[in-house]
Amino acid sequence: MKVTVFGIGYVGLVQGAVLASVGHDVVCVDVDEEKVKNLEKGIIPIYEPGLTSLVEDNYQSGRLKFTTDSKFAVGHGDFQFIAVGTPPDEDGSADLKYVLAVAETIAKNMQTPKIIINKSTVPVGTADKVSEKIKTVLAERGEVIDFDVVSNPEFLKEGAAVNDCLKPDRIIVGTVNKHSEEMMRELYAPFNRNHDKIIVMDVRSAELTKYAANCMLATKISFMNEMSNLAEKLGADIEAVRHGIGSDPRIGYQFIYPGCGYGGSCFPKDVQALVRTANDIDYKPSILEAVEEVNYRQKNKLFEYLDRHYQGAIEGKTIALWGLSFKPNTDDMREASSRVLMEKLWENGAKVQAYDPEAMEECQRIYGQKDGLTLVGTKEAALKGADVLVICTEWSQFRAPDFDLISNSLNEKLIVDGRNMYDPNTMEKKGIAYYAIGRGR
Ligand code: UGA
Repeated sequence: MKVTVFGIGYVGLVQGAVLASVGHDVVCVDVDEEKVKNLEKGIIPIYEPGLTSLVEDNYQSGRLKFTTDSKFAVGHGDFQFIAVGTPPDEDGSADLKYVLAVAETIAKNMQTPKIIINKSTVPVGTADKVSEKIKTVLAERGEVIDFDVVSNPEFLKEGAAVNDCLKPDRIIVGTVNKHSEEMMRELYAPFNRNHDKIIVMDVRSAELTKYAANCMLATKISFMNEMSNLAEKLGADIEAVRHGIGSDPRIGYQFIYPGCGYGGSCFPKDVQALVRTANDIDYKPSILEAVEEVNYRQKNKLFEYLDRHYQGAIEGKTIALWGLSFKPNTDDMREASSRVLMEKLWENGAKVQAYDPEAMEECQRIYGQKDGLTLVGTKEAALKGADVLVICTEWSQFRAPDFDLISNSLNEKLIVDGRNMYDPNTMEKKGIAYYAIGRGR
């Protein structure tokens, strides 16, 4: 089947490559010429396990093409995916200017019927706006061409995006048009083999499903972070509590890990956008507001431990920082807890020596040559001459470090762990002072 994908970002590139890999004929289009040229040379703009070879193989086979020519791209696909960004605007609501610009481009260039698919995370009602835009432009052109706007949100996790896309838990298809439903079923048939994962619903429900899923997950995390704060004050251990409640299958073990707050390009933005949507319709979203507030406070937690430990005298200290990305297996630092911590440390006159397996370039790009920031090539180098080790991201290579080396390298035997990676008893035996989330300090 012929597919066009607008937007070669994270979602568009993964979706395009995965659709090509099962045999569809895919054209990915973007306004960024350099990005397109690089992709043709095999240079992938993001770090995502498995993506480079998937893109290369399918590009070589001719099933996956990259272009900036939107007229050609619109002519190519019976399916037109919209996978462009929806950055939050000043008040937290999703900015639809890129989505609507793509709708306009499609409408100006289409000559045959199209199924237009919203893949970007967009507020409820966006499909209607896209439809309106297309109708208006077609009317201006004096043309009548069939089209349907389908909501088909993505549920990819960074670091596991290729796999999530190849083996989705569910495929949400928001449309009441029978022809579109059949076409979408055919498009996704290669991913729908063992049991039916396609869930068809009306467009608005599909749009809300995406927000509800992310907000539910963010709620689980903030709930656990709130419990961890209570555990700390009550002298309980949140890790024992996590085991205790996760064993109830109605609660489950997933997404109940306490930590130094959730980040990334999705949860913070989506919670804020749904709060905004609720406000617009005069509904007070009390739970969502609390989820956001708890997360905001949680991101300050690591600094608070340090501040308390040093009794406010943090100036001049050097902090070894392990992990910059918002979670492991990505170089993404959007809304990362590490940024909140580093910025607080700099404000208070401390220095940071940081190491991350993938996000060092990204950190450099964000902060440039900053006084108080040294990026080093190994986790061991980060420790040299530092006063304390702080962990912001649970990369697997931090799981079993050489604790003797840590003790010998640091000026003080002290670890502040934002991801609860170590056993407090082991730390005690090794004579290392250990602050972790919700574990009694
Ligand atoms: C999230 C969702 O998990 C995906 O299903 C969704 O498709 C995606 O957003 C999106 O809307 O595009 P992602 O942002 O890649 O995916 O990352 P997650 O793995 O969900 O982690 C988000 C944050 O929550 C991270 O900062 C992580 O450290 C934190 N987290 C996660 C916790 O603090 N505790 C947990 O138990 C789980």
